[in-house]
Amino acid sequence: MATHLPVLGGHAEGFTATARTDAWWQGPLITFVVFSTFVVYTTWAALQGDHYYANPYLSPFYSPVLFAEPNALLHGGAAPHMAWFGDWPSWMPHFLPLSPAVLILIFPGAFRFTCYYYRKAYYRSFAGSPPGCAVGPLAGRRKYRGETALLLFQNLHRYAMYFALLFVFILMRDAFEGFFRFGRPGIGVGSIVLTVNVVLIACYTFGCHSFRHLIGGRKDCMSDCGKNTVALGSFRQATWFNARHMLFAWLSLFSVMLTDLYVRLVSMGVIHDFNTWGK
Ligand code: FES
Repeated sequence: MATHLPVLGGHAEGFTATARTDAWWQGPLITFVVFSTFVVYTTWAALQGDHYYANPYLSPFYSPVLFAEPNALLHGGAAPHMAWFGDWPSWMPHFLPLSPAVLILIFPGAFRFTCYYYRKAYYRSFAGSPPGCAVGPLAGRRKYRGETALLLFQNLHRYAMYFALLFVFILMRDAFEGFFRFGRPGIGVGSIVLTVNVVLIACYTFGCHSFRHLIGGRKDCMSDCGKNTVALGSFRQATWFNARHMLFAWLSLFSVMLTDLYVRLVSMGVIHDFNTWGK
């Protein structure tokens, strides 16, 4: 009598082929939709070059303002004194739109694009390699190269992290300035929006794997023979944020987009900013 033994190991062949019975596709699909929305909105907003400032609120997509055209304030741009290096220079390539955002977004963009969490997310939802655990990849039987060859640039993440830390402090300054209009202290909905945004961005940045490595992960021992050192305390804090990195990646993604939208709508006069300054 023939005996049928169960087959152990192996997996279904072909793109999206799987033995899984759960809704594994929901995560990659949601990621695809949200990331696409973010990329489209960010690109559109960065190319506008206007309505990125509503005194005293500056959109995070446009901070810091390195150069500004002299009349920017007339169409919701930065006042001339806000530009770190003054007027938009004549030597700037003419194909660039007159938008301060196009000069700085490469830094936070590179940080997110090379983030370990985002890599997993977009490898799955955009490249389908693979779309999920134990799900057939789009690439089929092509040789697996990992993050070598073209993807070697992902190693730039540790350098992008240094710029990201700088941006946290710049956005903190913007949030602080969001509580002063013409030198008068006060508070508006925008002040809170800018503050929440920088808190979420800081939570995301301080949970970065490269940051955690920088402040302690590279050492074998931080406790100095069992004592609670500053290094150990910092490492534990970073570990707390690191364990929630995906959460803060999503929250900060939403917050930075919504903060720009809020500033833009206030600057355009579409919505009113409730505040203590009176107008
Ligand atoms: Fe995600 Fe560094 S690993 S920001």
